[in-house]
Order: sequence, then C-alpha cells, then structure tokens
Amino acid sequence: MSVPEVLLEKARLASQNAYAPYSEFSVGAAIRWRGGHVSTGANVENASYGLTLCAERVAVVTAASEGHREVEEVALWVESDKAASPCGACLQVLVEFCSDPSAVRLTMASRQGARIETLADLMPQPFRLREPDPERA
Ligand code: THU
Repeated sequence: MSVPEVLLEKARLASQNAYAPYSEFSVGAAIRWRGGHVSTGANVENASYGLTLCAERVAVVTAASEGHREVEEVALWVESDKAASPCGACLQVLVEFCSDPSAVRLTMASRQGARIETLADLMPQPFRLREPDPERA
C-alpha cells in the first residue's frame, strides 16, 4: 500500500501547531471524511495533565461538531525518531465514526518512517453500544 502523501503532509503540518510544553512531543492528525472533507488536529496539553487532548481526538471532534459522521482515512504524524501509534482512547473515539473499521486505512509516521494498518487491526474489538447504521457507510 502506498503512503497517502497529501494526507500525511497535512498531519505533519498540523503537528507544528501542537501545544506540548510539558511532554515536548508534537503530534498531528489528519482525517478524510466521507464527502472529501479533511480535518486536522494537534495535541493540546494542559498544566493539569489529564486534561490534555490528543491530536486525533482534536481532529475528530472538530469535524464531528461540524456535522461530519463517517471517517474514511486517517494519517498520524509524530515529531519523533520513534514509531508512531495512536493511543487506545483515540482509537475508541475514531471507531465511533467508522461503520467498518476494517475499511479505514490508518497511516502512522514519524522521522523513522511510515506504516499502514487498518483501524480494525489496531482496534479489533471496540466498545459499541449499538451496531453502526449500515446506511451511514
Ligand atoms: N498524544 C497524541 O496526541 N496522540 C496519541 O495518540 C498519543 C499521545 C499526545 C498527548 C501528549 O500531548 C503527548 O502526545 C505525550 O503523551
């Protein structure tokens, strides 16, 4: 599978807006939604550490609160020499807007390189209160 260069570049650019004075770990996310809209997000930390928002969740809630409902593709950039991977909380929040996580490509990249998985690979058994509406897909 080839790396989605445009989406990944948006994630990398978003990471430049990270507010991460405590961890000094900048993360950027870019999400393409059904219909073609792309949202981006960066991590926003807080002196009360537990209030920190991850980049992926910022990108999800920005678009969801504008009415977007179906994630089609995700790119994640971490400004690090270590491999990138989303945290479990972000995976759960992403899955909320994926009718079929096995169809959603997730590219994770850092200065080390990129790897591509599906959301279902990383989150095989998400918590759901009800099955996703097949009409939404
Ligand atoms: N972070 C993200 O933005 N996304 C993740 O999936 C994992 C961690 C952020 C939160 C915090 O600002 C920094 O990375 C270090 O944990």
